Amino acid sequence: MEDQFKLTETPQLKPKLTASWQAPSNIALVKYWGKHGTQLPANPSISFTLNDCRTITTLTATQSDHHSFEVLLDGKPKPSFAPKIESYFKRIENYSPWIKSYKFKIETTNTFPHSSGIASSASSMAAMSSCIVAMESELTGTKIDKKKASFLARLGSGSACRSLEGKLVVWGEHADTAGSSDLYGVDVSVNLHPIFQDFQDTILLVDKGEKTVSSTLGHELMNGHAFAKARFLQAHSNLTEIKKYLASGDLDGFIKITESEALTLHSMMMTSHPYFMLMKPNTLSIIEEIWKFRNVTKTPVCFTLDAGANVHMLYPAADKEAVEELIKSKLAQYCQNEHYICDHIGNGASAV
Ligand code: DP6
Repeated sequence: MEDQFKLTETPQLKPKLTASWQAPSNIALVKYWGKHGTQLPANPSISFTLNDCRTITTLTATQSDHHSFEVLLDGKPKPSFAPKIESYFKRIENYSPWIKSYKFKIETTNTFPHSSGIASSASSMAAMSSCIVAMESELTGTKIDKKKASFLARLGSGSACRSLEGKLVVWGEHADTAGSSDLYGVDVSVNLHPIFQDFQDTILLVDKGEKTVSSTLGHELMNGHAFAKARFLQAHSNLTEIKKYLASGDLDGFIKITESEALTLHSMMMTSHPYFMLMKPNTLSIIEEIWKFRNVTKTPVCFTLDAGANVHMLYPAADKEAVEELIKSKLAQYCQNEHYICDHIGNGASAV
């Protein structure tokens, strides 16, 4: 199956290639947690593609007798990014062998603050893979293959393969999702009810620090986890169920699965060996306030969490004002420096 992404022809090389692409972050509703082989997910996941939290990458390739790269963040060398990019290039060279004949300059910038504790690996690997695929299309004279961009992005960071398309993407084989694959993300937005089309995601920054558990270690904790089998099965049924709600516009159903998935992700971390507690007291305070607000006002706002303390609040655009008021009056005080980021659903990667 992977072979479909191997470039078999040897293209006529050009001395210099450049590409500039942007790709957004995404927020999972059914979570990817656990992997095997080379970046293959233990269960299928589904995410909303975001809009404003993006990485913009300009890639310059100069023909050379050996492969090398340099990476700059906001114009400054960023050697700490090198190991991840090194292993990314190693994994993709089998599929795009021409990269071995170039040295690369990677110039990257994020629209969200670097020290916000928001993972940028999804947006950055998606932007970088889009650049690689754009260059490949220039060399081969064929059109840009977004499916291959998603496939390559996955090899950099699993969740990155969900950042190429918008607005709703499934990654991982799932019996009820036609065309789904462990190898790349598929756009399932055709079935998205209008109420979700302009859904909002406000990210409450409870903790802006570096992640205490790297995602690589986190995924490993699912190997031999006492509840792994049940969890992976549950992800399949949760995906079937949430897709129904996303199509029908059932906000209560959507909230039930989304919040349960977030808490399950954290439960997996709390019950693994070693065990971790990534929620902070302020995370819990925010969750309680959201529940209270929802009970009293019936506003369909809910939360989800990634592998960290920050809270993503998800809600319809029509409820923006009420939620903004809640944030300002109650929730901002639980955020570091009262900092939060407003984002909404978007359309994926594009050339800049
Ligand atoms: C909790 O995609 O960061 O955000 O494949 O090791 O790069 P790697 O992991 P990564 O894991 C993301 C996990 C998650 C849930 C999700 O986005 O589905």
